This record gives sequence, C-alpha cells and structure tokens, in this order.
Amino acid sequence: MSQIIVKKRLDYQAPSYLINEVDLVIELDPTETIITSTLQFETASIPIDTDQHKPAARDLILDGENIKLISITLNGNAFTHYHIEDGKLTIAQAELANLTHFTLVVKNSIDPSNNATLEGLYLSNAAYCTQCEAEGFRKITYFLDRPDVLSIYTVTIIADKSAFPHVLSNGNLLEEYDLSDEKKLVKWHDPFKKPCYLFALVAGDFDKLSDSFTTMSGRKVKLELFVDKGKKSQGHHALASLKKAMKWDEDVYGLEYDLDIFMVVAVDFFNMGAMENKGLNVFNSKFVLADPSIATDNDFFNIESIIGHEYFHNWTGNRVTCRDWFQLSLKEGLTVFRDQQFSADMFSYLATRISQVKVMRENQFAEDASPMSHPIRPDEVIQMNNFYTVTVYNKGAEVIRMLHTLLTTDGFRRGMDLYFERHDGQAVTCDDFVNAMQDANEVNLDHFKLWYSQSGTPRVKVQKTSENGADKLTFTQRTLPTTDQADKQAVYLPIKMECLHRSGSKIDLKLSNDTFVLDSASATLAVSSQDFVPVLLSDFSSPVMLDYPYSLDDLLLIMTHASSDYSKWDASQAFYSALIRQLYDDKDTEVSAQIWRKLETALQQAHDNFELLNEMLTIPSIETLTQGIEQTEPLKLSVARSHFLNYLQQNLHGFLKGIVANIEQQKYEYTKMQVNERRLRSAVLQLLSYSKSVDVKDQLAQQFATADNMTDKLNTLKAAQIYSVELFEKLMVDFEQEYADNAVVMDKWFALHATTNSSDILAKLTLLASHRQFNIKNPNKVRSLVGSFAVYNTEGFHALDGSGYQFLTDYLIELDVLNPQIAARLVTPLIQYKKFAKMHQDLMTMQLKRLLSRPNLSKDLYEKVSKSLAH
Ligand code: TRP
Ligand code: ZN
Repeated sequence: MSQIIVKKRLDYQAPSYLINEVDLVIELDPTETIITSTLQFETASIPIDTDQHKPAARDLILDGENIKLISITLNGNAFTHYHIEDGKLTIAQAELANLTHFTLVVKNSIDPSNNATLEGLYLSNAAYCTQCEAEGFRKITYFLDRPDVLSIYTVTIIADKSAFPHVLSNGNLLEEYDLSDEKKLVKWHDPFKKPCYLFALVAGDFDKLSDSFTTMSGRKVKLELFVDKGKKSQGHHALASLKKAMKWDEDVYGLEYDLDIFMVVAVDFFNMGAMENKGLNVFNSKFVLADPSIATDNDFFNIESIIGHEYFHNWTGNRVTCRDWFQLSLKEGLTVFRDQQFSADMFSYLATRISQVKVMRENQFAEDASPMSHPIRPDEVIQMNNFYTVTVYNKGAEVIRMLHTLLTTDGFRRGMDLYFERHDGQAVTCDDFVNAMQDANEVNLDHFKLWYSQSGTPRVKVQKTSENGADKLTFTQRTLPTTDQADKQAVYLPIKMECLHRSGSKIDLKLSNDTFVLDSASATLAVSSQDFVPVLLSDFSSPVMLDYPYSLDDLLLIMTHASSDYSKWDASQAFYSALIRQLYDDKDTEVSAQIWRKLETALQQAHDNFELLNEMLTIPSIETLTQGIEQTEPLKLSVARSHFLNYLQQNLHGFLKGIVANIEQQKYEYTKMQVNERRLRSAVLQLLSYSKSVDVKDQLAQQFATADNMTDKLNTLKAAQIYSVELFEKLMVDFEQEYADNAVVMDKWFALHATTNSSDILAKLTLLASHRQFNIKNPNKVRSLVGSFAVYNTEGFHALDGSGYQFLTDYLIELDVLNPQIAARLVTPLIQYKKFAKMHQDLMTMQLKRLLSRPNLSKDLYEKVSKSLAH
C-alpha cells in the first residue's frame, strides 16, 4: 500500500515558494506524452515561526505521481541535485540559497492510455482530457499541487492534425498553426491567476455548437459547446442553460463573466458530474446531452442546474479560491447554494426545495451517522477525493442558506459584495467568507461558525406544555456524538414555523420572519392558545431532525391548512412514515377506513395544484424511512412499504383514477406545466401498478408504445417493474433494441435492471457486466449497474445470505485497481452498516474486513474501510 499520511487542517503552512508563471509545452501521444514545464518561482517571505523562532523549512518539495522524469534545468543549467521519494521531488534549500527568483524547467513523460483513474491526463474514447481537482495535476508534471499557489498559465499543445481538430485549454487562443503534414501547434493563454487544479486540456474530434452572450457591460463572449460527433442537436439545452446562468448571475449577484470565450466539453469517461476549469468546463456527457427522445424531465433539470453550478464557480471557486482543501465547502457549499437559487428561479421553488431536502434526509443524515462523519470543513483527511461529500456540498449549502435566512437577501448580497471586494484573486478560508458576511452586516457570527467545525445532525425535540393555563412550546436541541467527535455544543438554529388552531386558522406568534431562533440547548415559546398544532421547520430552515409527537390528525390538519406547500408536503411524508412504521412493527396493522377518507380529503384540496399533489403522493423512499428506524431490518421495511403502497392505491382507487383521467398526453415540451403533469401521472400509474389489474397492464403497454419522449418511456418501465417481472422484462427488451447504441440512454437501462427484485439478480448483474455497452472503466456504467444495485435494490443487496454484500465487495476489489475514486464512492452502502439489524451488520462487516485485508488497497478505500471498522 502507498504510504498512509493523515493530513490535518490545523497543520496548514503557507507555501515557502510561489510559482508566478507556468509555461507548459505538451506533445500529445497516447502512451508517451511529453511535458516541458517552465516554472517561474519566487521565494515567499515566510513569517518567523513564533514558537521555534526560526523560519519554516524551505526545501522545495514538488508533488508528482506516476510520471517519468526526463530532465531538470535550474536557471538554464542542467540540474541533478534533486531527490525523488514516494513520488515527491525535493530540491534542498541550500541549492536555492539566495535566489529570490529562479526558473525551473521540468521535462517528463506520462502515459494517458494507461490511466484508468481518470485523474490527470487520460483518454476518453478517442479524446484527450484532463481532470486535476483535487490533486490530479501532479499526475501531469511535478508541481506545487496545492490551491494556494496561483499562477498565470501559457499552454502550448502539439497534436496530430487529423485526429484532433479541436485542441483546447484555458483562457484565450493565442495561435494555431501547422508544424508539419501531421502535426500542429496550438497555444493558449489564461490571463487570470489560478491554482493548478483549474488547469484543463482537451483534444478531440468533436461537433461544435457556437453562440454568444453579451455581458451587462456590453462585452460579447463567445460560447462554444463540444460534443461527440453526430450529437450536435443534443447540445442546445445545455447551451441555452448556460446563457440563462450567465444572465442570472449578473441579475442576482452582479457577477459578470471575465474572459472572451467560455467553452464546455462533454466526455463519456468522467468521475463526477462536471468540472469548473477556468474558461473550459469539462462535463460528464450525461449532464450535457439532451433531447426529448433521450433525456427525461429530470435530466433537463439536472443539466440546467449543473451547467449553472460550474458556471457560478467562475466567481465562487475560481476568482476566489480555497486556501487548502479543508476549505472545500468555501466554494462547493456556496456554489451549490447558488445553483439551488438558480434552479428555484428557473423552475420552481417547491419541487427543487423538496428534492434538496430528500438529499439531506436520505444521504447526508446517513453520512453524519456513519463512520465517515465530518464537519462541512473537515479536520483530517487521508485522500481528498473522499471529501467531495454530501456533507461538504449539500450540508455546506444548507449552512449558507441559514446565513441567507439570518441576513436576508439584501444582507447576504452585501456580504457577497464585500467578499469579492476583499478577496478577488486570493485563496481564502471559510472564516474569511463568514467574516465578510459579518462585517458587511455588523452582526456577530462567532457562534454561527460552529456549523463549520461541528459534525453530526442536531435533533430538535419540541414539547407542548401548559403552565397556569398558558401553553408553550419547549425546544431542546441535542447532537449525538459522531465517530469523529465526541463532544457537541448547541448550534444556531433558525426554525421557521407557525401554529394552527384546530379550526385551521393561524395563530399570531409575533415572530420576525416566522422564525424562532434556537441558539442554546433549550428555549421556550409562549403560544396564546390552548388547542393548536405547531408546523415546524418550514422550508427545512435548518438541517436538523425534528421530533414532535404528531398524531395522524395533527398531520392531516397541517396537510390541509399550513400556509406553505412545503409544510403540507412535509406533513404528508410524516403521515406516510408513521403508517409504514406501524406496518413494519406489525404487518397485520389495519389502517381504518376513516383515516383513508381523511387522507383523500386532504389530498383532494390540492387537486388543482399538480406540483403539490404529485409531491404529496410520493411516498418516502426506503432510504428515508431507514433513517427514522434504529437497526432497520431492510427486507421487512421493504415489505411494509410495498404493502402500504398497495393499501393506499386500493383505498384511494377512485381518486387516483380520476387524476389520470384528467391529464391528457400532449406533444412533449419541457415546460413546468407539462413536467408536473407527467410527474403526477407517473406517480399515480406507479401506485396503480400495485393493483396488478389488467387494465393497468394495458395502459402501461400502450403508453410505452406511444410515448414520444424518454420521460414517459422510463416512467412506464418503472411502473412495469412494479407491475410484474414478465411485463417489465418484455418492455426492457424492446427498449434495448431501440437504444442499444446510445450510451447515455443505456445507463438508464442498466440501472433499471439492477434494481429489479428477482431471485437471480446476481447472475443477471454478471451477465449485464458482459454486455457490449458495459465497461468497468466507465464510471457512469459502474454507477448505473453496481451503484444502483447496492443503493436501491433492497432485496438483492440485503439478501439474508450475505450474497449481495459479497457481490459488491468482489466488484470493489476489481474496480479499486482501476479507479479507486469510484471504488471508494461505491463502498458507501457497506460502511453505513450501523443503520441495520445485527445480522446484517455482521455480514457487512465481514465483507469490510475482507476488503481491509487486501494487499495494495488504495488509500481511498483504506480511509473509508478502516474508519468503518475502527469502532
Ligand atoms: N469541482 C467539481 C464540482 O463542481 C467537482 C469535481 C469534478 C471533482 N471532478 C472531480 C472532484 C474529480 C474531485 C475529483 O463540483
Ligand atoms: Zn462544484
């Protein structure tokens, strides 16, 4: 195993050397790409270490991984007095004594064809591309691979003329000319200082879509989108989304794009969603390519949101970047919050907020409860790639959202303005960000900052008591110890709320912005009424778990009378969860006819609000339900949930049929109205599929045959999966024939197969892994097949004989050698074993131990697996 080094946030030291300019010459070759890197160094002025009264060490230590050194020159002379160990290249301080400025030329070679990690320079199909965040630049050349070293880049690329019509890098094109009949030279210059993780290079034969955007100051920016040949028509939605994002950032934050050209490239082989390289965003093709026949409503939504996210990084991430990787949430939490605002403005607040809350409840709460728990600004890291997490991203965005709530839209904007005024061009910390917010608003955010250092999900318990005839609510917060931190303090919690009389009318609580602030362990709120129901945590105003002893009637009252649609939805989820919980505890529980009638009445009042009705008809996922139960028995939970769905459709049959009857199928358009109609119809069809009635079968078969769009096709398949294995498999065969050559669509097909409840699922997975469209080196394929199985196939993954766990583990062993970053993401369902009953825990830990005993385990997997077994 490569050496395990734990890096600590508090060990940060400013760099002893800076690199002001970087000049790269890259001669592309599949197995031997030659890099000549000319680096203009400057010796940094280092503050005297106050404890030891001597300056920190000044040896120059360059990071490198999997690269072959050819030669080094120092100030023009051949230089050999360096030392290479564990990949790092060290030049002793004595060699550089008295040099305040010096030039180092490093020449090395790399092998992109043999780079399955998809970090550094690699081949995606026939195109070259790079991925340098977080620490991938060191796989290209020796460098100070840390985000607080900012340089101006000039990049010269020499490539085969015919194979690579498009040769791209950051910034502006300086020149492009032929060197010979075969080779050409392309030179780019980026006038903005940047850390090396934002460097990018792409070379390939693409189709190009061009457009332009005129900024608020009247500058015309060229927009170019590169996709695989023949897919030009699938790029329009992404390009339109980009223009919306550029306009939105000007309108809402006054932020203008700064280069003359902005490029986006779609590639099939990519570890994550997309990457914000300066002026040259690289995207996973599944977040670019779309037209109604291959992309679902959800895909259209995600593309707009991710295009926005990467674009917004130009200011929050690139112009102002992170001082060190522990500060990752500085750019990611903030940029996720910005893309969430953008999506809400472009699409709809309710649906986007609900999907964000689901991510928190299904994934982030689970992470906080797992051996990988960490604060949004982690304290200790072995492999940085393991910290691109729902905690850093999504909980990070919730923390920014609380700041926004606290400071209001105007105050938040003032803080953002001050942040850019102070820090444009710098690499800074989360504290710098909060300080800007604080100073611009003259508030004290010291206590608020605890959100950056404390991990775990606070639980807020609310109790209703009456004293001398006056009612009050007592709020108590408590965060349980997490694997990484034993002691917890009370955090600042804005709790948006209202109280309803039994009659449904609202009680005036005299709260500013309807928000009760709980910033100590416990506090009370007087309510001037006797019989009321509190509606708590509207809009998910803080990332906490709420505990209030609601009765079913309380929840029905909220579903009917709450002022916000969000709260109506939230109450519906609590209502369903309570009933499923009863079935889980006792499978013979009967839900009274009266409850069903009341539910129908509550749903009925949302009949003309399709968006809300759809959300209220969506039953909590197994993953969400698991969070609410200690030591879950997953198979029993799955049975209870299915039974509930079946009872629901039986008891609300007429109501449900009435809904579908009212929705006409129209020619596909991606509009909010149509999306809501399709979602609602699909939610109902899925419910009705539990009935196994013949007319549902006919309806599904007919809809599958006539659907003019991928959304309806896929939704029909999902309903068919519920209806019967026979119908499902028949439609899946048809589907495969139609889309066999479309990689993005086949990902959906793999994922659907992987989630089928069937006794021979493991044999099926093995067969699918040998499908001609499957490739273990492509993360999208692996995520679709193996990831979907482990996360969503409850029966298969949690099979009582442990075969599902064993299957995943065998696969991880194979994958870890190729792409450790993806292997470490995929291990998540196993390391979250503590949520499950003892029998499952034992089977899961047995596999984790098997993993840990492997020789040559990557440090990615090592970090997660060893942590999960440590307690
Ligand atoms: N910064 C990227 C984002 O916008 C995340 C990312 C893309 C990434 N590719 C990566 C992180 C590879 C680590 C490794 O969210
Ligand atoms: Zn990001």
